[in-house]
Amino acid sequence: MKDDVTAIARIETEGEIGLICLAKPPVNAVGLALRSAIHDAFQTLSQDPAIRAIVLYGEGRFFSAGADIKDFGKADVQPTLPQVLKALNDSDKPVIAALHGVAFGGALELALATHLRVGVAGLRIALPEVKLGLLPGAGGAQRLPRLTGLASAIDIICSGRDVLADEALSLGILDRLVDGPARGAGIAAARDVLAGTLAHRQTDARVVADDPAAVDAARIRLQAKRPALMAPLKALEAVCAATLPIDEGLAGERALFMELMAGDERAGLVHAFFAERATGQIPEKSATPRTIQRIAVIGGGTMGVGIATSLLIGGYQTDLIEAQSARVAQARSGIEKNLAGALKRGKLTAESHKAALDGLGCTDSLDVAAEADLVIEAIFENMEAKIGLFAKLDAICKPGAILATNTSYLDVNQIAAATARPEDVIGLHFFSPAHIMRLIEVVVAEKTAPSCVASAFALARKLGKVPVRAGNSDGFIGNRILTQYRRAADYLLLDGADFAGIDAALEEFGFAMGPFAVNDLAGLDIARATRDRKAATRPPQERYSRVADLICDQGWFGRKTGQGYYLYEAGKKPVAHPGAMAIVETERRALGLAPRAFSRETIVARCLTAMIAEAVRVLEEGVALRPVDIDAVELFGYGFPRHRGGPMHQADLIGPAELIRRIEDYAAEDPHFWQVPDLLRKMQRDGRSFADLNG
Ligand code: CAA
Repeated sequence: MKDDVTAIARIETEGEIGLICLAKPPVNAVGLALRSAIHDAFQTLSQDPAIRAIVLYGEGRFFSAGADIKDFGKADVQPTLPQVLKALNDSDKPVIAALHGVAFGGALELALATHLRVGVAGLRIALPEVKLGLLPGAGGAQRLPRLTGLASAIDIICSGRDVLADEALSLGILDRLVDGPARGAGIAAARDVLAGTLAHRQTDARVVADDPAAVDAARIRLQAKRPALMAPLKALEAVCAATLPIDEGLAGERALFMELMAGDERAGLVHAFFAERATGQIPEKSATPRTIQRIAVIGGGTMGVGIATSLLIGGYQTDLIEAQSARVAQARSGIEKNLAGALKRGKLTAESHKAALDGLGCTDSLDVAAEADLVIEAIFENMEAKIGLFAKLDAICKPGAILATNTSYLDVNQIAAATARPEDVIGLHFFSPAHIMRLIEVVVAEKTAPSCVASAFALARKLGKVPVRAGNSDGFIGNRILTQYRRAADYLLLDGADFAGIDAALEEFGFAMGPFAVNDLAGLDIARATRDRKAATRPPQERYSRVADLICDQGWFGRKTGQGYYLYEAGKKPVAHPGAMAIVETERRALGLAPRAFSRETIVARCLTAMIAEAVRVLEEGVALRPVDIDAVELFGYGFPRHRGGPMHQADLIGPAELIRRIEDYAAEDPHFWQVPDLLRKMQRDGRSFADLNG
């Protein structure tokens, strides 16, 4: 038989062993094209009398990343993945999967349907479908328990977690773990099988014992999760079907899979998966990034410490500069504590932890910035202070060094103008805690050079972050939207909802914390400083809630003072602060407002609509490049529930007509706050969705 070197499922032969090589870059995703090709290649080899065993392996970095997520719409087109896999399982000839890199989702399901699995050291496997709002629908939920038993399969499938090669071997998912290329490993295993020295078996022929205790414990755990998602619970149901005869189990699993495939949870999670990757498509993509090896972070507060930690974890030599000598040691110990945490969580190995500590310098001298390829300023939010600092950096830093500000609101053009090299100045807006949160808003000012932007994106990706390009606007993308979201919540509070009820409604929607609990966490004094800064330019028509100011006047700044909207006592669940509620009631009386009742749905609708309206303005002003960038900002920096996909994704689900209706309805009582953005009207007229604008 002639080897076909162009096929995406390439047939090769080694004596009496036939191989099928998955060759569809970049990740051998098993969409309709690849599964059809595997099916055809398999039929060819099955019917060839000279072939006695069949090996599947992958070309490139991985065996395969699983089903093609872009191709989900064709999941039911024949040959379906379950049909292809059934043929593998039923084969009279031994079928062997040789796995390297990753074998995820549908790719692992494929391997589970073969008769023997060989892993190459370093392999990671997973059935991550629940992370996409799905469950393994090509037999994974039936075949994995047949190899591992019910309890382990529930753990792996309902969490979607990665399983490393050693664990996979010990659980019986892999039959053999070897070093070296997958192709050779597969051929060696096939030879051993043909020689009768290595056992192989049809997975479907095995049976699974019931384990009611494991099932009950898992159900209780999954139901208690917030947000309570459908996919893990349906996945549990599917795994339980593994105790049935295989065909019944497979049919039940597929029905549950198709149900989830049609749902909003799946659509939101898939949108989030692509949002994370889409943000890299920027106009500066072809610019050459500058070399960054040594970085200086200025400011030893929480933000500076978090940023420095993140850079050290990313392998950069990092100097933290804190002007107040007395605070230098404190900053160092903060970073050391964070690094110890990263070691404990497995984010650093013992070796990389030591390297990170060796790469850290802490000083009170700004002169160290002269050595840096990149300087990140993280001092307090004050324009004069920042201008003064950037003027000094301009004098100290070497030519070509990038000068970044971590400001969350201030005008980056103005900061850049303090230097004679505005093309080297950029905004790098990290989110607190900076070593944990994944978003970085990359703020491109008027004169920022493309190479500077490309460098920021390259750095962010190296740190494992999600960089989003933002224009220079007060609050950039995220804080602009946040301001309107908070305002909508403040108005609901004045008009009759209570803050704990507003928080509960938004938490039920999926936010980890409602807006008032978040305000308490962030510190009420911080938001007040921003409001005070903007007071002079506040439009006279703007409705202003004084509630937060009055709470601050009591010296209640939230969690850090033990009191805010909530009362915080060590070891106890926070409770709504009666004093804060009394302030709300007094303020309502002072304004002559008769409190109204708001349902949870109305609370969510108003807050979400306020977010969407501002997001549309951010888009029409060009502050965000595309709707998907806004979604990425909200998902990775502001805790927007991942399964909801982001505000722009929600806007598409709600539709422009309904959004316009809502805004016009709310505008009857506050026409200044509730205004329909022009772009939204245009979308309605043109019958377009925000997804269309992602290009
Ligand atoms: N389908 C389609 N495209 C995929 C994909 C998939 N399963 N996995 C990755 N890609 C794409 C990415 O979108 C990206 O495309 P762009 O370059 O156009 O942005 C490209 O492949 C490279 O991916 P990454 O940037 O993520 O590369 P990486 O090296 O950092 O990570 C990976 C590789 C570990 C495989 C990671 O991509 C990953 O975890 N992928 C998701 C795997 C997954 O969830 N599989 C299960 C799918 S569901 C299923 O299989 C069950 C079913 O039957 C429906």
